[in-house]
Amino acid sequence: MWSNRFMLWNPGQYSKFARQRLQPGLDLIARLPEIAAERVVDLGCGTGELTELLASRFPSAEVLGVDSSEEMLARARQQPGARARYERGDIATWAPLERVQVLFSNAAYQWLPSHAELFTRLLSFVEDAGVFAAQMPRNFDAPSHAVMRELAMSSRFKGRIELRHEPVLSPQAYYDVLAAHAREVEIWETEYLHVLEGEDPVFEWTRGTALLPVYAALEGEALEAFLTEYKQRLRAAYPRRPDGRTLFPFRRIFMLARR
Ligand SMILES: C[S@@+](CC[C@H](N)C(=O)[O-])C[C@H]1O[C@@H](n2cnc3c(N)ncnc32)[C@H](O)[C@@H]1O
Repeated sequence: MWSNRFMLWNPGQYSKFARQRLQPGLDLIARLPEIAAERVVDLGCGTGELTELLASRFPSAEVLGVDSSEEMLARARQQPGARARYERGDIATWAPLERVQVLFSNAAYQWLPSHAELFTRLLSFVEDAGVFAAQMPRNFDAPSHAVMRELAMSSRFKGRIELRHEPVLSPQAYYDVLAAHAREVEIWETEYLHVLEGEDPVFEWTRGTALLPVYAALEGEALEAFLTEYKQRLRAAYPRRPDGRTLFPFRRIFMLARR
């Protein structure tokens, strides 16, 4: 099974597009129902911005952020006024001691396979009337990812890079998975048109996330060759506009399941 557990997340690189990366999480938090929550968990909490917003949204709840990356957790704990507790853990196998009222995850489960089983299990950790809320990218066919796959399959790199298979399911499939154990399910998709500044901004974006397996697999000249070709193809797929900016359409799926 492909695993990113040993990949090095770099909080600095990840935070480069902080505003754009945060927006879907804010949109998901905005759609959370009013709940008298005692326990709130943010799975794959990263640097904790959203975890702390959840702590503000549910001021009387105990809030826990779980992530496998010590680097991300160290950042999270340093947030000014951090109120949540942060714990290292694997969100593929994580289970709470007691069921929770809000189980939240933003942009994390796209790294893990077997969503039908996984999401059924996650929903079972939510108390009656509580909510499971998740957001993931669903842009696997976009050039930012397709070009990476094409290059990884090309003769020079074939067999050297283990890119993950797309684990994110269709909206209908998530409906079937969640509706079997929830009284209400809402699913929607949004395509954000990110307006990016600077040189090779789409490369700078994927460098903090989807390209991590490439960095883990290649080094030296091979890595350089891959990145040069990847950047070149991205420039053609996402041309810089006359105003100097680059548009990066990015589709994401959102789901809320109320127990
Ligand atoms: C794209 S970041 C999202 C962070 C945060 N939720 C946000 O929206 O800003 C994905 C996070 O998932 C974490 N992650 C990936 N696989 C994980 C796993 N198996 N167990 C725990 N955390 C994981 C990574 O360490 C990273 O911090």
